[in-house]
Order: sequence, then C-alpha cells, then structure tokens
Amino acid sequence: MSLRTRHLENVGVEVSGFDINRPITAGMKAELASLWNEHAILVFRGQDIDAAKQIEFSRIFGTLEKHPLETKRSSEYPELFVLENGGDGDRFQTAFYDGEEIVGRLDWHMDLHYTARPNRGALLRAVHIAEEDGETGFGDLAKAYDALDPETQRRLEGLEVAYRFTVQRREMRFVDLAGYEPGPHSPKKPADMGFPDFPDAIYPAVVTHRVSGRKVLEVVEQFLHRVVDPEKAGMSDDEADDLLRRLVAHTRKPDFHYFHDWRPGDMVLWDNWRAMHCTMGTRPGVRRLINRTTIEGDVTLGRQLAAAGGR
Ligand SMILES: [Fe+2]
Repeated sequence: MSLRTRHLENVGVEVSGFDINRPITAGMKAELASLWNEHAILVFRGQDIDAAKQIEFSRIFGTLEKHPLETKRSSEYPELFVLENGGDGDRFQTAFYDGEEIVGRLDWHMDLHYTARPNRGALLRAVHIAEEDGETGFGDLAKAYDALDPETQRRLEGLEVAYRFTVQRREMRFVDLAGYEPGPHSPKKPADMGFPDFPDAIYPAVVTHRVSGRKVLEVVEQFLHRVVDPEKAGMSDDEADDLLRRLVAHTRKPDFHYFHDWRPGDMVLWDNWRAMHCTMGTRPGVRRLINRTTIEGDVTLGRQLAAAGGR
C-alpha cells in the first residue's frame, strides 16, 4: 500500500491510499510526516474514524497537547478539544457582519500565536456537520513569503512584529472591520472568556521553520499590533503600519489559500508554524461538532514582553 496525493486548489494536498483502521507501518508514518512538512496542509477524506483513532493517528505527528481550558476538553479523552456550535455557548461568539448574524467567525490566525509559543499543528475532524456549514480556510505563509518581491523581503530582514491579545475584535488593528458589529454578549475583557491578560508577543517578521528550513512570513492579521521600534529600520509609525497593511493584504490573496468545505468524517491537519487558518462561522442555531487534537509546539518561536501592554 502506498500513499496517494492530490494537490488542492492552490496550497495543501489531499492524502489517500491508506486505511486508518489498518496498521500504519513505520514507513507510512514517516511518509505522512514528511508530506506534512512539505505541504503544511493535509486533507483526509472518507476514513471511518473515531475519537480514539484520531488521537492515535495524530500522535504520528508529535506529542499531543491538552487544551489549557478544561471546559473545552472532552471528559473521556483529554487530548480532544471539542468545538461545538448550536448550543448555549453560541451567544458569546455571535456578531454581525454586514447586518447578518454569524456564530464563530474568526479572522486569519495561528493558534496560541499570542503566547509566543504556538502549537506545532492541529488536526480537525468533522463529527457532525450541517448542510449549510461554514468553511475553514488555511493559508500558507511560506508560499506567501516566497511570493514577496525581493525589495520587500530585504525590508523585512531584522524587523520584528508585535501581537497584542484582545477578546474585542474592534481592538484588532489590522482585521477588516467594515460592516462589523459585536453581538450583545460579545466578551469585553479576557477574563470574560477565562483568559489571563497576556503580555505582547514579539516575533521576527520572517521566522525560519524549525523543521523544513522554509522562511515563513510571520504576519497574521488577528492580534497583529505593530512593528517593534520602526525607527531603527528608518520608518515612522505610519510607514510601519502601512507596511503591515500591505503585508496583510498580501496574505489575503487566494493564491495562498485553501478553503475546506466539510463533509462528515473529513480530517484536516495543518502545520501551525507555517499555515494560518480562519473560520467563516455558521448561522445561529446550526449544530456543528468538530473534534480537534493539538500537536505540541516544543520551541518558543517568539518572545513575550515582560509586562502586559508594555512597549
Ligand atoms: Fe484556531
């Protein structure tokens, strides 16, 4: 048995040619890990899989991490992070986009980016999916870096960018706020969601991937706050903001994206050190259940400022 791959629209591959319920050989595990490092986004369809199998399969790619919020964990399988829509919790995630009520929409982000130690990756499995379900987007920031003009690539050398955690979307400086209104139950401060106040996280604007050696454009719109010390690079604050706006617009190009339209049983694995992701969300009342396993990030890619909100 050997693995088959099919390139998705712009980035990522669909992997088939194996049965998750049959033993996966060491050779095949090595091949899966190497496909993940090469393509960053892997899609698996038509596998008959349960929670225990998902956990076992995810271990091929590294040590699993338990989510810091205990309420989000499955009581039976602590390695599973349960993403559920269609219940009481929806009201906290409901907001208005051009007058339409949407649950669970999230801007492009990398998981745990705001801690300076993003996880290595994650695997989502669709357990219950509604007909009119929202897509999940994945964006390859190594390809985005490669596609920058050489002049911009040079400008990014030695530059650092800061991320500032907030639960209020209106405080995010580089997301598209046109037509956005928070919902009546949208959280106001991190404690409303059980989060601490995180200090700013600082990253090089270009991070070299610890496994593949690829250069990754470390500019992701959610929580993106500023260039650190722009004057050192000969830029004013306004020029630095313009540069970030231009880079964010670059990462939004469809050339670097894959949008997954979920079917029951689908799994998507992404490299969170290289790929950003976003969710389009669903309309109120739509039931949706996705199980996520998370592969631990064993390296701190950024650094944290000592005090919350410091510069
Ligand atoms: Fe996420």
